[in-house]
Amino acid sequence: TRNGIDFAVADLGLAEFGRKEIRLAEHEMPGLMALRREYSEVYPLRGARVSGSLHMTVQTAVLIETLVSLGAEVRWASCNIFSTQDHAAAAVVVGPHGTPEEPKGVPCFAWKGETLEEYWWCTEKMLTWDGEGPNMILDDGGDATMLVHKGTEFEKAGVVPSPDDNDPDEWKVFLGLLKESLAADTGKWTKIGEGVLGVTEETTTGVLRLYQLAAAGELLFPAINVNDAVTKSKFDNRYGIRHSLIDGINRGTDVLIGGKVAVVCGYGDVGKGAAESLAGQGARVIVTEIDPICALQAAMDGYQVKSLESVLPEADIIITTTGNKDVVMVEHMAKMKHQAIVGNIGHFDNELDMAGLARYPGIVRNNIKPQVDEWVFPSGRSIIVLSEGRLLNLGNATGHPSFVMSNSFSNQVIAQVELFTKHEEYDKEVFRLPKKLDEKVAKIHLEALGGELTKLTKEQAEYIDVDVEGPYKPDHYRY
Ligand code: NAI
Repeated sequence: TRNGIDFAVADLGLAEFGRKEIRLAEHEMPGLMALRREYSEVYPLRGARVSGSLHMTVQTAVLIETLVSLGAEVRWASCNIFSTQDHAAAAVVVGPHGTPEEPKGVPCFAWKGETLEEYWWCTEKMLTWDGEGPNMILDDGGDATMLVHKGTEFEKAGVVPSPDDNDPDEWKVFLGLLKESLAADTGKWTKIGEGVLGVTEETTTGVLRLYQLAAAGELLFPAINVNDAVTKSKFDNRYGIRHSLIDGINRGTDVLIGGKVAVVCGYGDVGKGAAESLAGQGARVIVTEIDPICALQAAMDGYQVKSLESVLPEADIIITTTGNKDVVMVEHMAKMKHQAIVGNIGHFDNELDMAGLARYPGIVRNNIKPQVDEWVFPSGRSIIVLSEGRLLNLGNATGHPSFVMSNSFSNQVIAQVELFTKHEEYDKEVFRLPKKLDEKVAKIHLEALGGELTKLTKEQAEYIDVDVEGPYKPDHYRY
């Protein structure tokens, strides 16, 4: 704690560099800046205590300071052990008007290269306020929401979790933290769960968890699915990945992508961006899919569709984008070409069988540099694994660029305002933002790019049965 601000970051001395990048990012985030102007005298988030769990990057710093400028108090942690940009974390703690000696920003608990224990410690700190708890959660991947739900569940059942050696590491560490916190303060998680008015969720994987909780009747508060705003998933997941996938591969390996065979597992929004990213560099892209519709899309886009097993002997680069588990197993890895590059860009590392790799008889791990490991099989052949299987665009590079994140985060801010100001209108279910707001976010960004929108005439609007001012599409339209 310094100057009354609680924090755990790598080095507050990096704040000046962070501030410079935040200043440049603000210009590239017209959606967030427009929301700051729109609400400059209204402070719709006054009284909101937002606990945020989302990659602590420069772009997220602009999001955090937008929430603050709308009146919110904020505490933050990253949602991944490798994704924090230490200068951005320092800058949010110091704030625009503070100094490292006298920080005036936001409590933040995040640094690049946390252990799993540290990760869950940071998540708990971010949810632990002096006095009253948080009343809003902003989540990416659902870990903060899961901690509150699991904590409440254990408290209600009156049992203390007992981590088991057979549990996967991630789960064991999570239960270990819960065990300690339950021993220290019974009732903590139930109180937090009762105080939270709503959660806004950033990504596909977190949204899946929310729908599962809602279906089981276990969701403790209303949720807005930000991911499925069109201006989020059809932009961030796709065009963001198109930019940041090759950024991660390049910074991690600097291997020429042109002419190589690149396999993309999954052809959803992220997979489409990934395939385009690699094809743009001249790679020959092959897609694996389980869904015939997405597989056919891949074929129509000019990519070969194959099973993973059949392409292993020729693949130079293998990237998972499925949001599923056990997609590339150690048996696959053992059959790959020498120095094949293996990485995941989906939310969790369980797409790759990292546990199986570490246990493989005779395997040797040779760390090349942070977030780049060569794993050598007894045959002498090796593979290069990026970010230990965690999302490589944020682990090996700096994630998506500001402009695309401005789309995503504008939806986040709108969703926070909506749930905080109108929570009594929402049941404990998962909702999406109205299309009109999606169109508003798109319009701001289109104008920032100098795009010129065609205006409907009244007659045309009547003919296609929409309002001149939108929304322009029915909800079932797929873009
Ligand atoms: P999506 O649901 O649109 O796409 C996933 C695709 O994978 C689907 O088409 C599905 O049929 C396919 N799939 C599932 N299991 C498969 C398997 N075993 N083999 C081959 N294909 C399989 O989801 P979206 O939006 O593309 O997100 C994917 C993941 O990326 C999620 O975990 C999401 O949270 C994450 N994400 C990561 C970002 C980043 O910056 N790294 C940005 C946005 C999303």
